[in-house]
Amino acid sequence: MTAFRILGGRPLNGEIGIKGAKNAVLPLLAAALLVSGEVLLRDCPRLNDIDHMLEILAAIGCQVRWEGQNIAIDAGNAAEHRMPEELSKRMRSSIFMLGPALARFGKARFSYPGGCEIGLRPIDLHLSSLRAMGAQIIEERGHIYCSGKLIGAKIHLDYPSVGATENIMMAAVGAQGDTVIYNAAREPEIEDLAAFLNACGAEIKGAGQSSIEIRGGTPLKACEYVPLRDRIVAGTLLVGAAMTGGEVFAKGARAKDMQAVLQKLSEMGCTIGMEEGGVRVRGPKALKAVRRVETNPHPSFPTDMQAQIMSALCVARGSSVVVENVFESRFGHAAELCRMGADIQIDGKIAVVRGVKRLYGAKVVSRDLRGGAALTLAGLRAVGETIVTEVELIDRGYERMEEMLRCLGAGIERIETEE
Ligand code: UD1
Repeated sequence: MTAFRILGGRPLNGEIGIKGAKNAVLPLLAAALLVSGEVLLRDCPRLNDIDHMLEILAAIGCQVRWEGQNIAIDAGNAAEHRMPEELSKRMRSSIFMLGPALARFGKARFSYPGGCEIGLRPIDLHLSSLRAMGAQIIEERGHIYCSGKLIGAKIHLDYPSVGATENIMMAAVGAQGDTVIYNAAREPEIEDLAAFLNACGAEIKGAGQSSIEIRGGTPLKACEYVPLRDRIVAGTLLVGAAMTGGEVFAKGARAKDMQAVLQKLSEMGCTIGMEEGGVRVRGPKALKAVRRVETNPHPSFPTDMQAQIMSALCVARGSSVVVENVFESRFGHAAELCRMGADIQIDGKIAVVRGVKRLYGAKVVSRDLRGGAALTLAGLRAVGETIVTEVELIDRGYERMEEMLRCLGAGIERIETEE
């Protein structure tokens, strides 16, 4: 089993380059199925989820290869509409293939993506939207069979789901006629997908706002693209600077994508620098509590930063309330933080965090990707040695997190443990 061994007490200091975002690159890989010619995505992170998506693309006939940090995909010979069962079951993001596969082949077969550690993650909005575009969808014993010619439609989402908005956008580009998505997700990754598709020749307007208009049927041609930088990786490192009283410059991060997080860090007493080419955070001597952090769809506070900010609030002066509205069980890290001396009380989707003077090194378990990152940050701040196990979960979203942190001066190493 892989773990991080962290020796706490050293501030994070320095500059770090931020790579492409996992959550931007995954839908771009699926979208490459719609393009004739080779797509080149520059400066992507090397993560298992991305390799799994590339395996899915290869299994249906695409040519894929890493060239250093770039990924090249040529979907010219793709012909298989059945997604490989094990990979599509294991990986939730395989659902992104649904829209492009339907648009490309007129049919698609999937395994239902499995449950997940942060709560039920239904795909009903993906399916009902594609049905509204004319797809016939049969759900049978863990499999999803889709077929039909896609036709542009007006779709109103009950909830601004990121994945559903992305899936509809990709399906709509390959559909006949125009599509409008109302109550669309407004995350920066949506704008990035639209920018990529438009660079390939699509006509998408309004991405980043609540209504997105997509002209169907425009042929997509080869393009080279630099995906959006990872605002969550940047945010995690900047919270690390805040917690350890250090100063970090996240090169490539865009302040406008991170307003809600930077606002909270500022309320906690950090000095924020929104500079040309990146974002800088300097932590104060002592962090202050905030009245409330509440996760909601963008531009509100992102659920993917909830665990990390909670970790910082554990050592702030005073009490804070954290409300998780997006996923129903995303407080797995709280019990582990308490093992390090934090004072957190959970009631449903609300956590009350009373700041303590010190956290103490302990052996703790990552319960999910962002929760594991939050425990790692707590370890940087704690007195003594912390062991964070189940690092494989952290690896899903951070390319060698320990190396990034070591570059910034942290005492952290990757180790193999017995149990
Ligand atoms: C994406 C991100 C994830 C982030 C999340 C919220 C990727 C690969 N993942 O996930 O890191 O935490 O956005 O910002 O980009 N829902 C339904 N029905 C659906 C779809 C979603 O009820 O068909 C619900 C979910 O249960 C959840 C909420 O909508 O409560 C948010 O989900 P969604 O925005 O779709 O998140 P993902 O796209 O899965």
